[in-house]
Amino acid sequence: MPEDNDNPYLVSCSAPVNIAVIKYWGKRDEDLILPINSSLSVTLHQDQLKTTTTVAVSRLFKEDRLWLNGKEEDITHPRLQSCLREIRRLARKRRNDGNPDSAGLSHKVHICSVNNFPTAAGLASSAAGFACLVYSLAQAFGVEGDLSGIARQGSGSACRSMYGGFVEWKMGSREDGKDSVAQQVEPESHWPELRILVLVASAKRKPIGSTSGMQTSVQTSLLLKHRAESVVPRRMDEMTEAIRRKDFPAFAELTMKDSNQFHASCLDTYPPIFYLSSVSQQVIHLVHRYNRHYGETRVAYSFDAGPNAVIFTSQQHVPEFVQVVQHFFPPDANGEDFIKGLPVTDAVLSEEL
Ligand code: DP6
Repeated sequence: MPEDNDNPYLVSCSAPVNIAVIKYWGKRDEDLILPINSSLSVTLHQDQLKTTTTVAVSRLFKEDRLWLNGKEEDITHPRLQSCLREIRRLARKRRNDGNPDSAGLSHKVHICSVNNFPTAAGLASSAAGFACLVYSLAQAFGVEGDLSGIARQGSGSACRSMYGGFVEWKMGSREDGKDSVAQQVEPESHWPELRILVLVASAKRKPIGSTSGMQTSVQTSLLLKHRAESVVPRRMDEMTEAIRRKDFPAFAELTMKDSNQFHASCLDTYPPIFYLSSVSQQVIHLVHRYNRHYGETRVAYSFDAGPNAVIFTSQQHVPEFVQVVQHFFPPDANGEDFIKGLPVTDAVLSEEL
């Protein structure tokens, strides 16, 4: 970074969302964001659902500032501060090691982040957002290496968006969280026939955010405790194996069962949390009817903390399933289509400038 230039130093990056097929729900450490179970996700294609972040660094800036979708946000939020602090700490370490790239460390940053999809509607916006923020800051300050442990401190699921393809977030066992990091299980090129459809049932903000929702679940749900201790460890192995073998029926069944158990844990939370809507339930029934019709599992659904469905299927079944969905959920009077994009799984973070 050129230190004596009055022009801001600019870096712009984008990061895609990821969809968990083995869900993360519950923390054992709220500050460090350490989960009660490992999780596994698929990172979407860069061109589909993504966050784009531009970081400007200048010695003329008086303070750090952040804009999200054009609106200034509070930069003093502890999670943002954790990410900024950690990146600056690593950059300082690099400079002490004699690396010249990390000049301008005392300079303030202006961060501008834009999503090309509804924010906080259960479409993993915080995952793409924090992954992108951490990656852009790292580029600006010349920091390299695995950054998933820093992205995790912004939002747990963000650590998985640091890699493309199929990604595991290991829960780790250390108290300092150093081993709670993301790792690629298979690259984006591994399963090119796999397709993901996003069915947008509602683009509204979710009534209960993931952070507070999972907090209440950890405090009150015995099902969640059972899930974390006795179900997920085995499912992680089975899912990894299904992905390795590209065994769609096994992958699909595990994906649907895990989504269902996550929502059952939400219902088991007291007071209960409902993320699925009647439209979500109709999608669930439709998928099971479709699979039953063919006598094999061709399509799977997964729902995060919102009513929007993520559909996994194979390339060859996309046209027919899209037709089926359009038949039962025709575009509304405004021409708004229920189906948004057909992302494929070959994304990694990329630098845009
Ligand atoms: C249902 O990562 O948004 O999408 O760590 O509190 O920021 P925080 O939560 P967040 O939770 C995501 C929950 C989920 C499941 C998943 O992505 O694994």
